[in-house]
Amino acid sequence: MDNSTKLQHLLPNIDSHLPQWVDDSKQLCQYGKVASYIPELAKGNIDALGIHMLDAHGNEASVGDVNTVFTMQSISKVFTLLLALMDNGEEIVFHKVGMEPTGDSFNSMLKLELVQPGIPFNPLINAGAIAISSLIQGDSQQHKLERVLQFFRKSTQNESLQYNEQVYQSELQSADLNRSMAYFLKDNGVLEHNVDDVLDIYFHHCSIDVTCKDLSRMALILAYNGMNPITGEAIVPKRYVQIAKSFMVTCGMYNASGQFAIQVGLPAKSGVAGGILTLVQGSIGIGIIGPALNSKGNSIAGVALLEKLSAHYDLSMF
Ligand code: DON
Repeated sequence: MDNSTKLQHLLPNIDSHLPQWVDDSKQLCQYGKVASYIPELAKGNIDALGIHMLDAHGNEASVGDVNTVFTMQSISKVFTLLLALMDNGEEIVFHKVGMEPTGDSFNSMLKLELVQPGIPFNPLINAGAIAISSLIQGDSQQHKLERVLQFFRKSTQNESLQYNEQVYQSELQSADLNRSMAYFLKDNGVLEHNVDDVLDIYFHHCSIDVTCKDLSRMALILAYNGMNPITGEAIVPKRYVQIAKSFMVTCGMYNASGQFAIQVGLPAKSGVAGGILTLVQGSIGIGIIGPALNSKGNSIAGVALLEKLSAHYDLSMF
């Protein structure tokens, strides 16, 4: 069977292996840590692991703690980038953020001062995502927040998606590093608006509550170049999805992106609440939750599970 035929049959037949892989990967949770620098995130279940996969025919595979609700955190950065690209076009966006991986941790501001012209290296590190938040259009702060939430509702096809007020407040109160980055960006001329308003949008999009199923729907749209293959609705222009997926490959798993590309070989984005959104191009959207994180801030069991899946089905895009 060639690769594309194999993938067509993947979801209806995958269930036999998946529960075992989830159980095996779960053993790693004990070696990870739940994020605690945002106090509300410390409430995450360190032992949880769940995966939901969805294909264009609506076939699904769902194993483990798939009903866990968690905040999207950095995964949301991929979709705010898409919204900012649709609002402003490539030229304006890449005047404010670069296109290169940093090799540094997601919250580092080291290179902002070291490398000229002092714009964030890419839109998926915190500094870059804060710059992207400043590019979301709207008539008022409230209008911008509504547009962001609407875009996520459209991308997940889940009209009940909400900002998690407790996590938002918790982020707001433990944001000294992000705040200092934002002021630095303002001084460098990257942010043109009020720092608090920009951060308000950033903290809000990080604190949207989702499940693995929501992530798999978002991922499926990326897998089909911006179209929802189940409804036929065009959500995002193909060019912008190409840009987003390129960033997912080079920077989506932060300073473990190179290792992830070698071990798994799929475009992916992680968040500190333990989510991972990933996809098999033209085939499957995948959402994972596993709040125990490795030292790079990625779900320790989630990454292990993806390594098993990718190796078994030869999913690497490389
Ligand atoms: O800026 C923060 O700290 C969070 N709201 C988002 C960070 C995040 O998810 C980075 N991830 N791995």
